[in-house]
Amino acid sequence: LSEDFGTRLDSAAKRVDEILHDVISRQRTLNPDLRKAMEYTLFAPGKRIRGVLVLWSCELISGASHLDGGQVNHNAEVAAAAVEMVHTYSLVHDDLPAIDDDDMRRGRASCHKAFDEATAILTGDALLTLAFEVLAKEVDDLDIARKLIAQLGESAGAAGMIAGQMADLAAEKVEGTIEALQYIHTNKTAKMFQCSALCGGIAAKADTAELRRLWEYGLNLGLAFQVADDILDVCGSSEYLGKTVGKDEKAAKCTYPAVVGLEESRQIERQFADKAVAALKSFGPKADTLRQLPIALLERGK
Ligand code: IPE
Ligand code: IPE
Ligand code: MG
Ligand code: MG
Ligand code: MG
Repeated sequence: LSEDFGTRLDSAAKRVDEILHDVISRQRTLNPDLRKAMEYTLFAPGKRIRGVLVLWSCELISGASHLDGGQVNHNAEVAAAAVEMVHTYSLVHDDLPAIDDDDMRRGRASCHKAFDEATAILTGDALLTLAFEVLAKEVDDLDIARKLIAQLGESAGAAGMIAGQMADLAAEKVEGTIEALQYIHTNKTAKMFQCSALCGGIAAKADTAELRRLWEYGLNLGLAFQVADDILDVCGSSEYLGKTVGKDEKAAKCTYPAVVGLEESRQIERQFADKAVAALKSFGPKADTLRQLPIALLERGK
């Protein structure tokens, strides 16, 4: 990792935070109880990786960086907020008693613990819906808006993240296989990473060849990320991670450590990270920041 990578990541995550605050503060007519629960979960300390990925993928294609005082791409910023709202909704619902039954998230009580189950369900609904509303209203180019909305719907929906969540639950009841893992991880996690990389590209009007490389990068980055998440559930510290550890084994989840063991899981996460880096090859040195992201995500403790 280069010396300034940490600073670049912090700065981009901070920018995503600011964008999210701006988006929420522009919503004047939210139900006050919902606003409270939405802000509680959205502004808890998440890593904002998916939002950062939107911004950095856009910067890769457009050549302008917010760090260098370059012009910031408005549509990429709206997309970064939308992706983080959908991601946060997915966490609120993932933690519900009917799904993973987790009491802790982002270092705080999960939404359904801090409020109640009904509020958590509706908070997720509200965040999901707002993401699409904001894309439709705030993106300033109709063609880009349509493409972003279509991509987010496809990646987050019943052929994407939700399909992965269904399979994740179904797999609790059967012996885990590599094939099942590949399906679950691709859908529940990697498709939102892929979506984030693509949305950055779409906002920057990337051509088909560039989008294809971002597609490949995002997929493998997401796969590496979820193997690391599974490993952290076994080896991480709950205090640092901000969520319960050891939950996967208790719930008999289909995870890499459960199916192939820890050592092989570590090899597999490396292989996905290498594939992500390889997808960026033809971008040359301007992709150096994105190239370091898989390494940083595997080395993370939270
Ligand atoms: C958690 O995602 C859910 C997974 C797909 C593993 P993150 O680890 O990115 O969660 P936050 O946004 O930082 O809380
Ligand atoms: C969650 O995966 C994926 C989502 C779509 C939310 P996990 O269930 O492994 O995420 P954590 O460990 O609860 O953050
Ligand atoms: Mg889950
Ligand atoms: Mg979970
Ligand atoms: Mg997990």
